Amino acid sequence: MRLTCEVMPNIHPFLVHFPVALLTTALSFEVLGVLLSRGEFSKAGWWIQMAGTIGIVAAVLSGLSAKSQVFIPLPAAGTFDAHQQLAFVTAGGFAALLLWRLGMRAKIDPGRRFLYLTLFAASLACLWVGAWYGGELVYRFGVGVVSPVP
Ligand code: HEM
Repeated sequence: MRLTCEVMPNIHPFLVHFPVALLTTALSFEVLGVLLSRGEFSKAGWWIQMAGTIGIVAAVLSGLSAKSQVFIPLPAAGTFDAHQQLAFVTAGGFAALLLWRLGMRAKIDPGRRFLYLTLFAASLACLWVGAWYGGELVYRFGVGVVSPVP
């Protein structure tokens, strides 16, 4: 059973899957576009990237709200800090990539593609590791859950 606030439920666990799934799919589309030399894959990747970046904003905002609703035991403090810091780094990385891509009018310059996709992959790796720490908070330390057994 999950602990909830009386005013607003904790929607962080519901929202966090969107950026992970969307941004992983976006990078896959970009890579497929390069491998198959098909521009439409990159176009689709761009739309999915925008949706995923909005998802990160939602995950960060709901995470900040979840922080005030759940009890974080002392042994989980380091994991929580790693989770939170990686979330901020990830959000910064994807915000920068979004602005960069907008500056290129949504089309990645061929000469910058390698750097763009490398930074995308690095940001995605931070997102995965940060989300893994989030899972540790819940499934190892029981943050945000109460035992269903009385
Ligand atoms: C990129 C942004 C973020 C992602 C992808 C993310 C991902 C996750 C994941 C996967 C979980 C485990 C949820 C579950 O399986 O039930 C989790 C839990 C948690 N996260 Fe995040 N998180 C993000 C940002 C943040 C931020 C910025 C904070 C706080 C400042 C935060 C605080 C928490 C807390 C307190 C929990 C445990 C309680 C709960 O499930 O709400 N998260 N997060």
